[in-house]
Amino acid sequence: MSVTAAASGFVVLLLTVTVVQCENGWDVSYTSTEICAVRGSTVDITCTYTYPSTFNNHDTTVQETFWFIKESNGIHVDLRTDPEYSGRVENLCGNNKCTLRISNLRESDSAVYKFRFTTNQTTGSLTGSAGVTLSVTDLHVQVRESVKYDYSIWAELRCQSSCRLPDHLNYVWYKNQQKMKEGASYTGYFYSEDRVSCAVKGLEDFRSASMLVRSQIDWGVSYTSTEICAFRGSTVDINCTYTYPSRWNHLDTTVQETFWFIKVREQIYDDLRTDPEYSGRVENLCGNNKCTLRISNLRESDSAVYKFRFTTNQPRGSFFGSAGVTLNVTDPQLQVHVRRSTANPSSTWTELTCHSRCQLPDHLSYVWYNNNKPVGRKKYFHLRHFNPEDSYHCAIEGQERFPSPTLYYPSDAPKPPSVSVSPSGEIREGSSVNLTCSSDANPAAKYTWYKRSGDKQVQRLSEETQFVLSSIRSSDSGEYYCTAENELGRSSANILITVTCE
Ligand SMILES: *[C@@H]1O[C@H](CO)[C@@H](O)[C@H](O)[C@H]1NC(C)=O
Ligand SMILES: *[C@@H]1O[C@H](CO)[C@@H](O)[C@H](O)[C@H]1NC(C)=O
Ligand SMILES: *[C@@H]1O[C@H](CO)[C@@H](O)[C@H](O)[C@H]1NC(C)=O
Ligand SMILES: *[C@@H]1O[C@H](CO)[C@@H](O)[C@H](O)[C@H]1NC(C)=O
Repeated sequence: MSVTAAASGFVVLLLTVTVVQCENGWDVSYTSTEICAVRGSTVDITCTYTYPSTFNNHDTTVQETFWFIKESNGIHVDLRTDPEYSGRVENLCGNNKCTLRISNLRESDSAVYKFRFTTNQTTGSLTGSAGVTLSVTDLHVQVRESVKYDYSIWAELRCQSSCRLPDHLNYVWYKNQQKMKEGASYTGYFYSEDRVSCAVKGLEDFRSASMLVRSQIDWGVSYTSTEICAFRGSTVDINCTYTYPSRWNHLDTTVQETFWFIKVREQIYDDLRTDPEYSGRVENLCGNNKCTLRISNLRESDSAVYKFRFTTNQPRGSFFGSAGVTLNVTDPQLQVHVRRSTANPSSTWTELTCHSRCQLPDHLSYVWYNNNKPVGRKKYFHLRHFNPEDSYHCAIEGQERFPSPTLYYPSDAPKPPSVSVSPSGEIREGSSVNLTCSSDANPAAKYTWYKRSGDKQVQRLSEETQFVLSSIRSSDSGEYYCTAENELGRSSANILITVTCE
């Protein structure tokens, strides 16, 4: 059995069937609205569409059928033209039914997929606006129950995924790379070096990571994310969960203190709440074995590794998560990334993405500007044509005072400049000489003229495209060079000037 057949046959979870009937005969309906699929597998997303065969006394012909996940500025990006999906998508259509087949699924394919068709009627285009939510998941082994013995652990294991796979799936279990059994769970004794993994039956190539079986009652701290980027002046939440054995050495465990620290001095952990640098700016919000450190009015000096510690009534029953969470407080430092369609020349688009070197939270809203006027509110913005008079930049909503650099048409870094000397030919002492620097660049380049002296010292001469030596002397002989620079880069060229004496 091929992986494709297995995936489309087994891995798709059909949650609901929508039938949205438009009153005038235009309609798109999806077979299922939520699909959970395992990374690496192939998924089929299917819809049917209807349209009136005649409309305003004209026959209707369908022109285009395609699927998209991104739409802005009236442009729907056909997935087949998106380099991210290159070679992995097909749109299989027949009898008013279309199936989007995505193979070799990646986690980044998790998105809402929508179908659109266009006809030759003037208002005859329709998007199935509900769409189909695809979640791509990895499998992982979860310990459901465990009992710890001296040399082994008895445990019941389950194969888990981050979205709900169909209940009827069967799983295959591996211990130390050997297939052990099939079934929804795996119960047995495990030694400390045993590594266990699982896979959906039929998709054995896409196994979970192998893991050591650990008793679930261990002491531990785990952080939701280990690196967080946040803006100066904003508020950040740093989360962790902690576990401890509820009974240990014949004693029930009670948690006494929970706190966050960045400094340790001779086994003393400085609770952040007592640090004058953080005075009035930190809170520790706890409940259900989870704690959140909230730091408000962030300063650049708050960039540090934050660790969580808890203490209990047990002798030596204190624990901290040594990995910690690295917080980086910066300006947004946005960049505009440009991506163009490659697959299909008839459907061209340019995608501008508002990008930060910092990993930013998903919930942020963005603002796109065309010639300083707001035009879009997504992380990306699409253009059919980039017109020479247009410029674009982006910002994060609420952080408009940190805009990205402006992108101009056709947004090229300066070409190596050409330098010229006028008049040409021999240069005699006392004559007037013009040095001219020019370069094709967009945005227009700024020029600087320099002279390099024998001892490698550099002297800045002028910030104009032209540098004039009005009455040249023999000591002016030497190497001159100019640089052309804009936001996108810098290049330079040089010229040797020799002045001959009378
Ligand atoms: C659409 O195309 C069909 C077939 O070519 C034609 O008969 C019909 O008149 C067209 N409809 C419109 C609105 O142009
Ligand atoms: C931290 O926890 C809060 C509340 O529990 C939640 O709203 C927030 O999304 C979490 N942040 C991260 C980065 O996981
Ligand atoms: C914080 O962000 C800045 C700018 O993005 C980067 O240069 C720096 O390396 C980052 N620091 C850490 C600790 O990640
Ligand atoms: C140098 O440039 C100026 C204008 O910038 C021009 O008037 C002058 O004729 C030029 N001289 C030579 C020698 O080309």
